[in-house]
Amino acid sequence: MTQATPTYQQEYHASIDQPEAFWRSKAAQLNWFKAPECILSTDDNGIQRWFADGEMNTAFMALDHHLSQGRGQQTALIYDSPVTGSKRTYTYQQLTDAVALFAGALQNQGVTKGDRVVIYMPMVPEAAIAMLACARLGAIHSVVFGGFAPHELAVRIDDATPKVIVSASCGIEVGKVIAYKPMLDEAIRQAQHKPERCIVLQRPQAQAPLSAGRDLDWQEAVSAATRADCVPVKGTDPLYILYTSGTTGKPKGVVRDNGGHAVALHYSMKAVYNMNPGDVFWAASDVGWVVGHSYIVYGPLLAGCTTIMYEGKPVKTPDAGAFWRVASEYKAKALFAAPTAFRAIKKEDPDARLLGDYDLSSLETIFMAGERLDPPTYDWTRSKTGKPVIDHWWQTETGWAICGNLMGIEAKPTKPGSSTLPSPGFDVQILDDAGHPLPPGQQGAIAIKLPLPPSCLPTIWNNFPRFQAGYLNSFPGYYCSGDGGYKDEDGYVFIMGRTDDVINVAGHRLSTGEMEEIIAAHTAVAECAVIGIQDELKGQVPVGLVLLKDGADIDEAQLQTELVAMVRQEIGPIACFQKAMIAQRLPKTRSGKILRKLLRQIADGEEYSIPSTIDDPGSVEEMVALLR
Ligand code: COA
Ligand code: AMP
Repeated sequence: MTQATPTYQQEYHASIDQPEAFWRSKAAQLNWFKAPECILSTDDNGIQRWFADGEMNTAFMALDHHLSQGRGQQTALIYDSPVTGSKRTYTYQQLTDAVALFAGALQNQGVTKGDRVVIYMPMVPEAAIAMLACARLGAIHSVVFGGFAPHELAVRIDDATPKVIVSASCGIEVGKVIAYKPMLDEAIRQAQHKPERCIVLQRPQAQAPLSAGRDLDWQEAVSAATRADCVPVKGTDPLYILYTSGTTGKPKGVVRDNGGHAVALHYSMKAVYNMNPGDVFWAASDVGWVVGHSYIVYGPLLAGCTTIMYEGKPVKTPDAGAFWRVASEYKAKALFAAPTAFRAIKKEDPDARLLGDYDLSSLETIFMAGERLDPPTYDWTRSKTGKPVIDHWWQTETGWAICGNLMGIEAKPTKPGSSTLPSPGFDVQILDDAGHPLPPGQQGAIAIKLPLPPSCLPTIWNNFPRFQAGYLNSFPGYYCSGDGGYKDEDGYVFIMGRTDDVINVAGHRLSTGEMEEIIAAHTAVAECAVIGIQDELKGQVPVGLVLLKDGADIDEAQLQTELVAMVRQEIGPIACFQKAMIAQRLPKTRSGKILRKLLRQIADGEEYSIPSTIDDPGSVEEMVALLR
């Protein structure tokens, strides 16, 4: 007799009422070396942790396991690169072999369980191979997005202290070849910590000169290697560190456990995305972001699916039909991308004429996340493709969707502007400033009642106090998400944006505080504020408001040019910082805090009220004149 599929309510309540029984049964679907007995326990920091006594290896579960299930000849990974005109596929057998061999190469360089390996690479299969090879050895990878400048890479090197860095000679951005190796060299020069070895993948588009004694060519490293076995790790041993923007210049190293991550991601592939083994899943993101970690690499492979690694853009590689071409060519069942990508397509091909060239009959659902899905983009994508468009909300910290419309459990009616209902395991509450739950319709801080479900961060790398201060102290007993929003009468969650100084530019999370620290270092700048203002394509873009030092002699255009160059130099092109304006005064509270929310509301043309705590009400008029 087959079991009836539970409804969303049944599944959700089981996860909240009996979390240990719920996650024990999900964990049992994976191939552990030693199944966990202890499902939820408390660590030395007082944090509840999943599967502490289980023994496993994430790469084994994602690769070797499938060979024993007869999936060796199934395609595991498709690499499609319009920017280099190349395509390549790996079966599960081939990917397992490549990973085992590269793990051997890392082992030859002394990498063992618990060592950190930084990966600074473009969207090539070798990036995924390097990640999985680390997992195979029980080493902890930390992937750094290629659009970050050397300074950002250096900060991460100093925090993660890697034994080895894996990189490539270059990345390709539409028509530009971006040399990665000089950026890597500069980052290592800036960092206090020096890696013992760099392994560099030489790409034909640019050859990188290697530093004798430190650098090793990828091919040579692999030629000298033999396969390495999977190293058993505990469920609570870290799989990776992924740095994300906080409110200060220092990024936060989100730590991901092996066990909880594997269980939650495996579960999510069916529950959230309705994917079955053998299905083709395409997350059009980058391995440098959490979406790339979870749904280009680990999730699809843990579930025995085929994943697509796309080295291209939604537009210009070669045109706005690129997404439709890839989805149709590989018969993707699900496509997941940031709303900004669809806004870019809509801008270039408003009538979606290029869609007509492709057969999208295999594509069942389009998923979006990373930033607010604005209703016009939702409507356009849905009406042009005729496919369900699912908004889901998540963060680097959780690794999978906190809220979504669970297509593999029970598809609910969608409401534009809402990311639907909490995923199983996430007890999502809307709280007022004092931590009291708010009734439907009222906006507040979005918090998640502890314990967090599997895959969510247990700490910040090297900095448990920052984890406590940033996430746990605001509302005792809850994780504070940093997002604000409300629930409606049906329990649907509406995310209204960050409540801190984090902004979202083209689906990329950036810290305005960090940009302010850079701008404040300019010799003419006395004080500054950076705010995210609405942008038709990228959702938000940063804008700097600057007060000059007395006697500073610089015009606005010159200052802007210099500040743009400084931010690009320090953070990278991905910051998209292009506008700075000179102001005479900034609206502040009497205690000297800049009223950023007010600035944002003025800039976005929203209604605003002037707080009673304002020091100089006249500054508001000046801001209206400057920003509107
Ligand atoms: N390596 C080096 N440089 C990179 C880079 C990388 N991996 N990714 C982006 N950059 C550079 C770009 O070349 C550009 O540089 P420029 O200022 O010299 O032109 C800059 O960073 C900004 O890039 P981007 O934000 O991609 O803007 P764009 O105008 O080139 O493209 C979109 C606009 C909408 C097409 C693009 O932002 C996009 O595809 N967004 C989707 C984002 C996404 O998938 N996010 C993942 C979250 S799920
Ligand atoms: P990141 O950690 O880079 O994935 O960014 C997480 C942040 O992106 C969240 O805290 C939100 O502010 C925003 N975000 C992600 N998904 C959504 C969504 N579906 N709707 C609104 N905001 C989102």
